[in-house]
Amino acid sequence: MPLVTLQPHPAQSVTAGLSLLDVSEDLGHPLESDCGGVAACNACRVRVISGAQNLSPRSAEEVPFLDDEQQRLGCQAIVLGHVVVRPEPGL
Ligand code: FES
Repeated sequence: MPLVTLQPHPAQSVTAGLSLLDVSEDLGHPLESDCGGVAACNACRVRVISGAQNLSPRSAEEVPFLDDEQQRLGCQAIVLGHVVVRPEPGL
């Protein structure tokens, strides 16, 4: 099972195939979400510290919300393996 670290919380095992947004809710440290997970609010954005290759590829819908290559929208990034992220919501 993948280990997900949602800084500043410790790493926890999660089920592969869920979005970072869903994982964050399961772990009790929910990312912000104002749009219900449809890539429309930018509140769930995170900075990927390590393990970017263990997330699904960027979706076309999320790219306009990202400032650089290390950011992802939590609702669009599917967890496939170990990853360390830090919440970095957009305004
Ligand atoms: S929850 Fe709104 S963009 Fe991800």
